[in-house]
Amino acid sequence: MFGNLQPQAPDKILALMGEFRADTRQGKIDLGVGVYKDPTGVTPVMRAVKEAERRIWEAETTKAYTALGGEPAYLSAMSRLVLGETLDADRTAALSTVGGTGAIRQALELARIGNPGLTLHVSDPTWPNHVSMARFLGIPVAEYRYFDEASRGVDFEGMKADIGRARAGDLVLLHGCCHNPTGANLTADQWAEVSAILARTGAVPFVDLAYQGFGDGLDEDAAGTRLIVANAPEALVAASCSKNFGIYRERTGVLLAKVEGRAARDLAAGTMAFLNRQTYSFPPDHGARIVQTILDDAALAADWRAELEEVRLGMLSLRRQLAGEMRSLTGTNRFDFIEHHRGMFSRLGATPAQVQRIRDEHAIYMVGDSRLNIAGLNEGSVPVLARALVEAGV
Ligand SMILES: Cc1ncc(COP(=O)(O)O)c(C=O)c1O
Repeated sequence: MFGNLQPQAPDKILALMGEFRADTRQGKIDLGVGVYKDPTGVTPVMRAVKEAERRIWEAETTKAYTALGGEPAYLSAMSRLVLGETLDADRTAALSTVGGTGAIRQALELARIGNPGLTLHVSDPTWPNHVSMARFLGIPVAEYRYFDEASRGVDFEGMKADIGRARAGDLVLLHGCCHNPTGANLTADQWAEVSAILARTGAVPFVDLAYQGFGDGLDEDAAGTRLIVANAPEALVAASCSKNFGIYRERTGVLLAKVEGRAARDLAAGTMAFLNRQTYSFPPDHGARIVQTILDDAALAADWRAELEEVRLGMLSLRRQLAGEMRSLTGTNRFDFIEHHRGMFSRLGATPAQVQRIRDEHAIYMVGDSRLNIAGLNEGSVPVLARALVEAGV
């Protein structure tokens, strides 16, 4: 039996992490892995998370199982965080999942039960696990044009033409904000146009919201998601708490399914809980409890929002600094897109050979497609990166 196993393609980013660790050069810079780091290179535990954990530890009297679909208080706190005022509780089923990845996986399973013939439409490029999970489940994947290599912005005409070809009942996956890997995002008007196209075709929007609060603010980053979910008769949202609460390893996420009415909501919620049962039974509780404790306590929520805002503004300031360095080194505004991109990532548009050269000559590690993690920089390393980019001829 096990003799039939085949080696799996290695995860490129995990392989890069290994190479970075093995590099003995002083001053090496890791811009690869998608984890927030503060200016000292640490991924901190947020203040509100520590305080919530203390309260949970003191109050907790049992470790008995919770609910199959997740704790209702967590589900309603997350539904409000994601959908805000637009939440239609009568039409929204929610599921606690193992991180954002678990939410995406359960969303694909749920959609496939509803429409076994569906195609998943993803942006070119997208987070590689979207494609890999869909293929693993036997779901056909179609790419829509998204990134304009010349401007490093969104190729919106290409995107509209391609998603316009989705059939009724297909899923169209959209990054809610902070597109990974490019950093290029839709404007409010473009979200409205996408929403109108999906309404015309009958394709179902599926929003992956993994970086709410990392781009323009908590509500601003959810605005596109809220608009498209409000306008669609049916929609899916997979949200992750890994980045904005900094609780990566606690594996905390939520899947929201907007459906046609109360009866459909209860049916969807039952099917979603069934999917948890088939996969891992009860979802992890600790991270969900942290999130709910924070969101349901005004003072803790305010402190969390303030710290998240510091994180966001820190990344924006690094973006501005890098774009400024590139302006003065190149005498052009070719790299201003770095300032316009949002979230943790930007795709620079360097060739794989240039990325390799930067790694070899400057010990600066980024993903081969030239995706760079802005949060891996600090004020001191920005000029080092800028010089390396210019020397490599990017
Ligand atoms: C676009 C995107 N979606 C989903 C996820 C999944 O996050 P989680 O760690 O919560 O599973 C990530 C994580 O890197 C991501 O970048």
